Amino acid sequence: MRVEVFETYTDLSQRTADIVADLVRRRPDAVLGLPTGSTPEGFYRALTQEDVSFRQVRTFNLDEYVGLPQSHPQSYFSFMNSHLYSKVDLVPANCRIPNGMAVDPDAECRHYEDLIRQAGGLDVVVLGIGLNGHIGFNEPGSPWDARTRRVPLAENTRQANARFFGGSVDGVPREALTMGIGTILEAKQILLLASGEGKAEIIRRTLEGEPDISVPATALQRHPNVTVLLDKAAARVLQRTA
Ligand code: PGA
Repeated sequence: MRVEVFETYTDLSQRTADIVADLVRRRPDAVLGLPTGSTPEGFYRALTQEDVSFRQVRTFNLDEYVGLPQSHPQSYFSFMNSHLYSKVDLVPANCRIPNGMAVDPDAECRHYEDLIRQAGGLDVVVLGIGLNGHIGFNEPGSPWDARTRRVPLAENTRQANARFFGGSVDGVPREALTMGIGTILEAKQILLLASGEGKAEIIRRTLEGEPDISVPATALQRHPNVTVLLDKAAARVLQRTA
Protein backbone atom coordinates (compact mmCIF):
# COMPACT_ATOMS: atom_id res chain seq x y z
CA MET A 1 0.00 0.00 0.00
CA ARG A 2 1.33 3.44 -0.85
CA VAL A 3 1.10 6.00 1.92
CA GLU A 4 0.86 9.75 1.43
CA VAL A 5 1.02 11.99 4.49
CA PHE A 6 -0.20 15.58 4.36
CA GLU A 7 0.34 18.52 6.64
CA THR A 8 -3.39 19.18 6.96
CA TYR A 9 -6.81 17.61 6.43
CA THR A 10 -7.44 20.19 3.70
CA ASP A 11 -4.35 19.02 1.82
CA LEU A 12 -5.34 15.35 2.00
CA SER A 13 -8.86 16.21 0.88
CA GLN A 14 -7.58 18.22 -2.09
CA ARG A 15 -5.19 15.45 -3.15
CA THR A 16 -8.01 12.88 -3.05
CA ALA A 17 -10.21 15.15 -5.15
CA ASP A 18 -7.35 15.66 -7.63
CA ILE A 19 -6.87 11.90 -8.02
CA VAL A 20 -10.59 11.32 -8.63
CA ALA A 21 -10.98 14.33 -10.95
CA ASP A 22 -7.94 13.23 -12.99
CA LEU A 23 -9.49 9.79 -13.36
CA VAL A 24 -12.76 11.33 -14.60
CA ARG A 25 -10.87 13.55 -17.06
CA ARG A 26 -9.15 10.47 -18.47
CA ARG A 27 -12.30 8.35 -18.31
CA PRO A 28 -15.44 10.52 -18.43
CA ASP A 29 -17.73 7.54 -17.71
CA ALA A 30 -15.71 6.36 -14.71
CA VAL A 31 -17.42 4.24 -12.05
CA LEU A 32 -16.79 5.59 -8.55
CA GLY A 33 -17.33 3.86 -5.21
CA LEU A 34 -18.08 6.55 -2.65
CA PRO A 35 -18.10 6.88 1.14
CA THR A 36 -20.00 8.89 3.71
CA GLY A 37 -18.92 10.06 7.17
CA SER A 38 -16.98 13.03 8.49
CA THR A 39 -13.67 12.12 6.85
CA PRO A 40 -14.76 12.53 3.19
CA GLU A 41 -16.53 15.87 3.69
CA GLY A 42 -13.40 17.82 2.69
CA PHE A 43 -12.88 15.55 -0.31
CA TYR A 44 -16.39 16.32 -1.56
CA ARG A 45 -15.88 20.02 -0.91
CA ALA A 46 -12.72 19.95 -3.04
CA LEU A 47 -14.22 17.68 -5.71
CA THR A 48 -17.12 20.04 -6.32
CA GLN A 49 -14.59 22.82 -7.04
CA GLU A 50 -12.72 20.80 -9.68
CA ASP A 51 -13.05 21.78 -13.31
CA VAL A 52 -14.49 18.50 -14.55
CA SER A 53 -17.83 17.18 -15.78
CA PHE A 54 -19.57 14.26 -14.07
CA ARG A 55 -22.28 13.94 -16.75
CA GLN A 56 -21.31 10.39 -17.66
CA VAL A 57 -19.93 9.28 -14.31
CA ARG A 58 -21.64 6.43 -12.46
CA THR A 59 -21.44 6.32 -8.65
CA PHE A 60 -22.10 3.54 -6.15
CA ASN A 61 -22.11 4.31 -2.46
CA LEU A 62 -20.61 1.85 -0.04
CA ASP A 63 -23.55 1.52 2.28
CA GLU A 64 -26.84 2.72 3.74
CA TYR A 65 -28.67 2.28 7.02
CA VAL A 66 -31.55 -0.17 7.07
CA GLY A 67 -34.85 1.50 7.91
CA LEU A 68 -34.07 5.13 7.10
CA PRO A 69 -36.00 6.59 4.19
CA GLN A 70 -34.01 8.66 1.68
CA SER A 71 -35.68 11.77 3.08
CA HIS A 72 -34.31 11.20 6.62
CA PRO A 73 -31.65 13.85 7.31
CA GLN A 74 -29.17 11.16 8.42
CA SER A 75 -29.72 8.81 5.50
CA TYR A 76 -26.65 8.44 3.35
CA PHE A 77 -28.77 9.58 0.43
CA SER A 78 -29.29 12.90 2.24
CA PHE A 79 -25.57 13.11 2.94
CA MET A 80 -24.68 12.50 -0.70
CA ASN A 81 -27.31 14.88 -1.93
CA SER A 82 -26.04 17.75 0.18
CA HIS A 83 -22.30 17.06 -0.28
CA LEU A 84 -22.17 16.03 -3.93
CA TYR A 85 -25.29 15.33 -5.99
CA SER A 86 -26.73 18.81 -5.65
CA LYS A 87 -23.38 20.46 -6.45
CA VAL A 88 -22.19 18.81 -9.67
CA ASP A 89 -23.68 17.69 -12.96
CA LEU A 90 -24.08 14.02 -12.02
CA VAL A 91 -27.20 12.48 -13.56
CA PRO A 92 -29.49 11.23 -10.74
CA ALA A 93 -30.14 7.89 -12.46
CA ASN A 94 -26.39 7.24 -12.41
CA CYS A 95 -26.06 7.71 -8.64
CA ARG A 96 -26.71 4.54 -6.68
CA ILE A 97 -27.00 3.87 -2.96
CA PRO A 98 -28.31 0.60 -1.53
CA ASN A 99 -31.98 1.02 -0.66
CA GLY A 100 -32.22 0.59 3.10
CA MET A 101 -36.02 0.56 2.86
CA ALA A 102 -36.16 -2.37 0.43
CA VAL A 103 -38.90 -4.86 1.25
CA ASP A 104 -36.53 -7.67 0.30
CA PRO A 105 -33.04 -6.54 1.41
CA ASP A 106 -31.32 -9.68 0.09
CA ALA A 107 -32.78 -9.11 -3.37
CA GLU A 108 -31.76 -5.44 -3.15
CA CYS A 109 -28.18 -6.47 -2.36
CA ARG A 110 -28.04 -8.92 -5.26
CA HIS A 111 -29.44 -6.22 -7.55
CA TYR A 112 -26.77 -3.78 -6.33
CA GLU A 113 -24.02 -6.25 -7.17
CA ASP A 114 -25.58 -6.75 -10.62
CA LEU A 115 -25.63 -3.01 -11.21
CA ILE A 116 -21.94 -2.70 -10.31
CA ARG A 117 -21.10 -5.58 -12.62
CA GLN A 118 -23.19 -4.13 -15.46
CA ALA A 119 -21.37 -0.82 -15.04
CA GLY A 120 -18.11 -2.68 -15.67
CA GLY A 121 -16.91 -2.72 -12.05
CA LEU A 122 -15.60 0.05 -9.84
CA ASP A 123 -12.70 2.05 -11.25
CA VAL A 124 -11.93 3.51 -7.88
CA VAL A 125 -13.41 3.21 -4.42
CA VAL A 126 -12.81 5.89 -1.79
CA LEU A 127 -12.95 4.63 1.79
CA GLY A 128 -12.96 6.01 5.29
CA ILE A 129 -12.08 3.74 8.19
CA GLY A 130 -13.92 3.10 11.44
CA LEU A 131 -12.19 3.16 14.81
CA ASN A 132 -12.56 -0.63 14.82
CA GLY A 133 -11.09 -0.93 11.31
CA HIS A 134 -14.37 -1.31 9.47
CA ILE A 135 -14.54 -0.37 5.80
CA GLY A 136 -18.00 0.37 4.51
CA PHE A 137 -20.02 -1.28 7.26
CA ASN A 138 -17.93 -4.44 7.19
CA GLU A 139 -17.39 -4.84 10.90
CA PRO A 140 -14.69 -6.99 12.54
CA GLY A 141 -15.12 -10.65 11.61
CA SER A 142 -16.61 -9.91 8.18
CA PRO A 143 -15.48 -12.47 5.60
CA TRP A 144 -13.11 -11.06 3.03
CA ASP A 145 -15.01 -12.59 0.14
CA ALA A 146 -18.36 -11.12 1.24
CA ARG A 147 -20.55 -9.31 -1.29
CA THR A 148 -23.15 -6.59 -0.76
CA ARG A 149 -25.38 -7.75 2.08
CA ARG A 150 -27.39 -6.88 5.16
CA VAL A 151 -25.22 -6.57 8.29
CA PRO A 152 -25.64 -5.69 11.98
CA LEU A 153 -23.71 -2.62 13.12
CA ALA A 154 -21.11 -3.06 15.86
CA GLU A 155 -21.98 -1.39 19.15
CA ASN A 156 -18.93 0.91 18.97
CA THR A 157 -19.92 1.94 15.45
CA ARG A 158 -23.38 2.88 16.69
CA GLN A 159 -21.82 4.84 19.53
CA ALA A 160 -19.44 6.62 17.15
CA ASN A 161 -22.40 7.60 14.96
CA ALA A 162 -24.69 8.69 17.82
CA ARG A 163 -23.37 12.24 17.28
CA PHE A 164 -25.42 12.36 14.08
CA PHE A 165 -28.59 11.17 15.83
CA GLY A 166 -29.01 13.76 18.55
CA GLY A 167 -26.23 12.23 20.66
CA SER A 168 -28.20 9.12 21.64
CA VAL A 169 -27.19 5.66 20.51
CA ASP A 170 -30.85 4.61 20.71
CA GLY A 171 -31.64 6.55 17.56
CA VAL A 172 -28.88 4.91 15.49
CA PRO A 173 -30.10 2.12 13.20
CA ARG A 174 -28.96 -1.39 14.13
CA GLU A 175 -28.39 -2.67 10.62
CA ALA A 176 -27.10 -1.54 7.26
CA LEU A 177 -26.69 -2.72 3.70
CA THR A 178 -23.05 -2.60 2.72
CA MET A 179 -20.79 -3.56 -0.15
CA GLY A 180 -18.74 -6.54 1.01
CA ILE A 181 -14.99 -6.63 1.39
CA GLY A 182 -14.98 -8.88 -1.68
CA THR A 183 -16.86 -6.20 -3.63
CA ILE A 184 -14.43 -3.51 -2.48
CA LEU A 185 -11.34 -5.59 -3.29
CA GLU A 186 -12.52 -5.93 -6.91
CA ALA A 187 -12.19 -2.17 -7.48
CA LYS A 188 -9.28 -1.32 -9.77
CA GLN A 189 -7.99 1.30 -7.36
CA ILE A 190 -8.64 2.01 -3.66
CA LEU A 191 -8.09 5.28 -1.79
CA LEU A 192 -8.25 4.99 2.00
CA LEU A 193 -8.57 8.28 3.88
CA ALA A 194 -7.98 8.96 7.57
CA SER A 195 -7.66 12.15 9.53
CA GLY A 196 -6.97 12.96 13.16
CA GLU A 197 -5.18 11.37 16.05
CA GLY A 198 -8.14 9.16 16.94
CA LYS A 199 -7.46 7.11 13.78
CA ALA A 200 -3.68 6.81 14.32
CA GLU A 201 -3.71 3.41 16.05
CA ILE A 202 -6.14 1.73 13.64
CA ILE A 203 -4.12 3.10 10.72
CA ARG A 204 -0.96 1.60 12.24
CA ARG A 205 -2.68 -1.78 12.58
CA THR A 206 -4.05 -1.54 9.03
CA LEU A 207 -0.68 -0.79 7.48
CA GLU A 208 1.77 -2.53 9.76
CA GLY A 209 -0.25 -5.30 11.43
CA GLU A 210 -0.69 -8.85 10.19
CA PRO A 211 -3.74 -9.38 7.95
CA ASP A 212 -6.47 -10.27 10.43
CA ILE A 213 -10.19 -10.77 9.99
CA SER A 214 -10.75 -8.84 13.25
CA VAL A 215 -9.35 -5.71 11.53
CA PRO A 216 -11.30 -5.53 8.26
CA ALA A 217 -9.10 -2.84 6.69
CA THR A 218 -6.09 -5.20 6.78
CA ALA A 219 -7.81 -6.96 3.85
CA LEU A 220 -6.60 -4.02 1.76
CA GLN A 221 -3.05 -5.37 2.07
CA ARG A 222 -4.16 -7.94 -0.54
CA HIS A 223 -5.00 -5.33 -3.15
CA PRO A 224 -2.34 -4.25 -5.67
CA ASN A 225 -3.39 -0.61 -6.01
CA VAL A 226 -4.17 1.05 -2.68
CA THR A 227 -3.17 4.58 -1.72
CA VAL A 228 -3.59 5.58 1.93
CA LEU A 229 -3.98 9.34 2.35
CA LEU A 230 -3.39 10.62 5.88
CA ASP A 231 -2.94 13.84 7.70
CA LYS A 232 -0.01 14.08 10.09
CA ALA A 233 -2.13 13.26 13.11
CA ALA A 234 -3.45 10.02 11.62
CA ALA A 235 0.11 9.02 10.61
CA ARG A 236 1.58 9.82 14.02
CA VAL A 237 2.37 6.30 15.23
CA LEU A 238 3.39 4.75 11.91
CA GLN A 239 6.87 3.26 11.88
CA ARG A 240 7.28 3.70 8.14
CA THR A 241 5.59 6.13 5.82
CA ALA A 242 7.60 5.46 2.66
P1 PGA B 1 -15.81 8.97 9.94
O1 PGA B 1 -16.29 7.48 9.71
O2 PGA B 1 -15.24 9.43 8.66
O3 PGA B 1 -17.04 9.70 10.34
O4 PGA B 1 -14.76 8.90 11.04
C1 PGA B 1 -15.48 6.61 9.01
C2 PGA B 1 -16.11 5.27 8.96
O5 PGA B 1 -16.76 4.85 9.94
O6 PGA B 1 -15.96 4.59 7.93
